[in-house]
Amino acid sequence: NGRPQISASSFRDVVIDGRQSEDGAPEQGGATVSITVVGASGDLAKKKIFPALFALFYEDCLPEHFTVFGYARSKMSDEELRNMISLTLTCRIDQRENCSDKMEQFLKRCFYQSGQYNSEEGFSELDRKLREKEAGKLPNRLFYLSIPPNIFVDVVRSASRTASSSSGWTRFIVEKPFGRDSESSGELTRSLKKYLDEEQIFRIDHYLGKELVENLSVLRFSNLVFEPLWSRNYIRNVQLIFSEDFGTEGRGGYFDNYGIIRDIMQNHLLQILALFAMETPVSLAAEDIRNEKVKVLRSMRKLRLDDVVVGQYKGHSKGGKSYPAYVDDPTVPSGSITPTFAAAAVFIDNARWDGVPFLMKAGKALHTRRAEIRVQFRRVPGNLYRRNIGADLDKATNELVLRVQPDEAIYLKINNKVPGLGMRLDSSELNLLYSERYRREIPDAYERLLLDAMEGERRLFIRSDELDAAWAIFTPVLRELEERRVAPELYPYGSRGPVGAHYLAANYNVRWG
Ligand code: NDP
Ligand code: BG6
Repeated sequence: NGRPQISASSFRDVVIDGRQSEDGAPEQGGATVSITVVGASGDLAKKKIFPALFALFYEDCLPEHFTVFGYARSKMSDEELRNMISLTLTCRIDQRENCSDKMEQFLKRCFYQSGQYNSEEGFSELDRKLREKEAGKLPNRLFYLSIPPNIFVDVVRSASRTASSSSGWTRFIVEKPFGRDSESSGELTRSLKKYLDEEQIFRIDHYLGKELVENLSVLRFSNLVFEPLWSRNYIRNVQLIFSEDFGTEGRGGYFDNYGIIRDIMQNHLLQILALFAMETPVSLAAEDIRNEKVKVLRSMRKLRLDDVVVGQYKGHSKGGKSYPAYVDDPTVPSGSITPTFAAAAVFIDNARWDGVPFLMKAGKALHTRRAEIRVQFRRVPGNLYRRNIGADLDKATNELVLRVQPDEAIYLKINNKVPGLGMRLDSSELNLLYSERYRREIPDAYERLLLDAMEGERRLFIRSDELDAAWAIFTPVLRELEERRVAPELYPYGSRGPVGAHYLAANYNVRWG
């Protein structure tokens, strides 16, 4: 029906305890968590945040005492907010009973406050309403900034002054984009830190909340068979691939300001790369993991223009249906050269990864929707079976694929003897397909991240020094692309993207998976 499925899951063994203060001490009257979605009338709030909150409620993962507030400029009553939210809530696929009861119970806890983003009045009024709900309990407050980035600081200024919790914690989840380059990102960080401590800021990259991305470290650090191979000695190249089979429909105005490198590569793909390539952290504590990620990012070479290919989709007709060009979007300025596709080769100059190309590819309006990590291993030296392998030896290497979405899976391509009296080898897969192995539905990334923010778990959020290091890799090339007005290679909507991406990979002796 086109509506997002609620994909809740009790993925936590321990339900968060609403009766604890910041230092973990039990409170007499219990604690309450108020979650205020700023920008509640917007796309992300409707599509992801409210459904994720409902999913957590459904699975009893929210504290006993919680309240959800929507805040935006649009005029709405509590009832209208509830109606709006209810349109995007659906029951789980396994259709347990009492779903509509649960929805009703959830919606009763949802309220709305209209106000300007830079006005202390609006947030004071919100504060007054929050206090009513929190009466007698330790008040903890979470603000989710689901708004355009140019008003982040206004909201943080007003909300931190007038609507911070008096005795519990106050946290702000901030959505990307975190600036457009090193300078603007640094400026944003400094402005936020005028009003908040770093511990209060939860910079979200929802790819870190995806199941397969979380599993990356488990796969590597708790299976002996992988970690010893995880280096330049055995890995030939690593590919990080993001593709969508639809264009920027509806978000062209936002997108044109950023482009695919800022929208996907500098954050989602780079975060995956950092987790993939980091050294073993001292522990699973957030700071230990983030310290290792920062080290990887700081060891990376700044991306060079020669190592980037950019593209933009053009209109296309197929089977009697026509697909629009990027520049056909009325919110996109005509003649825009903003890339909707990019491929890049990046390098980590440290002992583990010296010389290994990490190839990234991200594009909109391609032939398929997928996000994958592909690890191609080196050739077996002196392979005894080289004559029995049909393909050339470079193709017959092992490949480990983590399919982040859709149809989450981990599979390993191996050379295997084709059964029979002869000795012929083919490439087969050891395949862990999640839908076959695990019956439980996979929670949406936003569920995990919202729960983490409520628990004060920062492992999956971006620290400011990580952000600085990430921008340092991309800022010079972004500037060069813009100053030189590099024209993107046009590719038809629904195609595999520009051929330039293949030449780039070929420079490093790589074939895209
Ligand atoms: P929207 O453009 O839908 O904006 C959210 C709300 O902010 C609107 O409903 C509107 O509320 C208010 N708003 C919009 N434009 C302005 C403006 N120029 N000045 C003041 N208020 C404005 O954004 P999304 O919901 O799509 O995204 C929210 C944030 O999340 C953004 O930072 C975006 O980059 C990020 N994001 C979004 C994703 C998505 O899929 N949508 C995915 C990943 C990140 P009102 O008029 O009622 O005040
Ligand atoms: C967002 C980007 O961060 O991620 C969008 O701004 C993109 O352009 C989206 O469509 C993809 O997220 P997902 O979870 O649907 O793969």
